[in-house]
Amino acid sequence: MGAWTGGARFYDLQVWLERWALDAALDLAAPTADDRLLDVATGTGALLRLLASGYPETREVVGLDASEAMLGRARELPDSWRLMHGDARALPFEQGQFDVVTVCYLLQTLGTETRERVLRELSRVLKVGGRLVTVTPRMPRSGVIGLLASPVVRLAARSSGTFGGIAPLDPRRELAEAGFEIERARDVRFGYPSLCLLAQKKPHEHGRRRPAARDFDSYESFRPAKGSDGHESHLEREDDRPE
Ligand SMILES: C[S@@+](CC[C@H](N)C(=O)[O-])C[C@H]1O[C@@H](n2cnc3c(N)ncnc32)[C@H](O)[C@@H]1O
Repeated sequence: MGAWTGGARFYDLQVWLERWALDAALDLAAPTADDRLLDVATGTGALLRLLASGYPETREVVGLDASEAMLGRARELPDSWRLMHGDARALPFEQGQFDVVTVCYLLQTLGTETRERVLRELSRVLKVGGRLVTVTPRMPRSGVIGLLASPVVRLAARSSGTFGGIAPLDPRRELAEAGFEIERARDVRFGYPSLCLLAQKKPHEHGRRRPAARDFDSYESFRPAKGSDGHESHLEREDDRPE
């Protein structure tokens, strides 16, 4: 966590590379005016800024982060929205308080046990039937970008600290083991190659079937489309499969 305090000043220099994945995350989360939304490890509030421009009517929004320095860099948000200092391993909220929880580019920075603990916390604060959206880096595909990026990503996978923040992670099995049902998966190729997942919190069931590998086989990939003015107007999806 201390690693993020030092990097907070420069964090937003690279945040535009998250744009495509964060757009995909919000599209999956589809927040409504009635929703209470928690963005865990909100950092400098990149997701909240997009939320404020696309879904400003969302009823209650909380951005939580363990680094005061990162939170201090967040820009102004709608009046009723809050930023909070807190730890994803022990969230300062009641059980079932949120309809939507988002967590972008945190899970891959955690060790397996901490991740398990954080996923339990995310599940605890979500209502049954609530939506969890995760964004994690994914291994770049083949092709020129993949060729350029893969040594960096491989090195990151062996590193800790902020550089380890781009190590690829597919958390679907861990989410399923934490009691979530994976509803959708999107493979985002622009900016940071990322995996965006929408999962639903299931009611607790005894003797739930362990997830099988084939349960995690389908991806949707995501491309931004250009409008007539040359800017992104909407996002298209195409069917695709992981390598
Ligand atoms: C890679 S940044 C992602 C920030 C933001 N979600 C984004 O997409 O730009 C990771 C963030 O996780 C936060 N973090 C790390 N461990 C945490 C924990 N245990 N609880 C809450 N936040 C944590 C860091 O302070 C940092 O802001």
